[in-house]
Amino acid sequence: MDFDDPKAFWNHQAATPEGARLAVDGSGDERTLQLTGAFSAAQARAALDPQPRDRIFELGCGVGRIGRELVGEVALWHGVDISENMLAVARERLADAGNARFDVLDGPRLPMLADASFDKGYCVAVFIHMDKEDMVLFLREVARVLRPGGLFYFDHWNLAHPVGWKRFSAEVDEIGRRGPGRRKDVARNQFCVPQELEAYVRGAGLEPLLVIADTPNAQVVCRKPDGDAAAAARETARLRDAAPRIDYGPQWTAYFEAIVDAEAAGQPPQRLRELLAAAPAGDATAAMFRAWIAGLWRLRAARWGELPADLQEPKQE
Ligand SMILES: C[S@@+](CC[C@H](N)C(=O)[O-])C[C@H]1O[C@@H](n2cnc3c(N)ncnc32)[C@H](O)[C@@H]1O
Repeated sequence: MDFDDPKAFWNHQAATPEGARLAVDGSGDERTLQLTGAFSAAQARAALDPQPRDRIFELGCGVGRIGRELVGEVALWHGVDISENMLAVARERLADAGNARFDVLDGPRLPMLADASFDKGYCVAVFIHMDKEDMVLFLREVARVLRPGGLFYFDHWNLAHPVGWKRFSAEVDEIGRRGPGRRKDVARNQFCVPQELEAYVRGAGLEPLLVIADTPNAQVVCRKPDGDAAAAARETARLRDAAPRIDYGPQWTAYFEAIVDAEAAGQPPQRLRELLAAAPAGDATAAMFRAWIAGLWRLRAARWGELPADLQEPKQE
């Protein structure tokens, strides 16, 4: 089905809670969603250093995959998203959090968030799905709602990384298969080079403090300038130390590349299974990918057959 506007698209994807989970990160069940949520929240935590007094917002919060992990660590967590259906699932998943707020968006504006009212914000796997003009409109709004000295963390597909390029090529092939005159998918994956992201951030009035560019996801932490050069330098030094915990890193990248290659070949992810089998027992990143790929395998059982033993949950004693 073709959609002209992102709200209709994301509401359609999130028509059921299962659809919503799949649409945010391909998780087939709540346990996998919590594993990937913990992984992404650890990155956001390292980027933003949340404090109990902080007011924090998430742009494009989806089902609260990350928010559920962080809401207990801050004074206020405010999730905004274009999809009412995503927000309905998020409300349910964060029902126990008394400090969570939610608002629906109607475009690249944040009218419900007051000027200079947030200490921190973040946006994961959202800017990749919108036109670059809309991303910059959102970044201008981020600059408006952050207090001076406030921090914002986001990611984007990284076209300058070889695996990012491979992922982009898959989109190019998909567009190439469409007939002449067909419009591009409104929520398709879009790609940037890190330098371009820095330009957007600066153009929106924010100062990039850390740009990580060594994986298929570029990651940026930026700050709303407040004229305090010493404070900005302290934050930059903290981020330099935190960078290895923010970065997706080589293990995630190798697993992800194995998935991209398998999808391009239209085959089950044999190479990923080999990599996962070689991971040390108890490795959290491998456990997350194992759960994720098992969910995909179950969905594709008609084509791929029964879930192999190496992807099944270890039996609890
Ligand atoms: C891939 S999901 C990621 C959700 C969440 N950030 C996470 O990492 O779990 C993308 C989310 O962005 C939202 N979204 C997409 N386009 C948007 C737009 N133009 N404005 C606001 N939200 C948007 C979707 O509704 C969806 O919840």
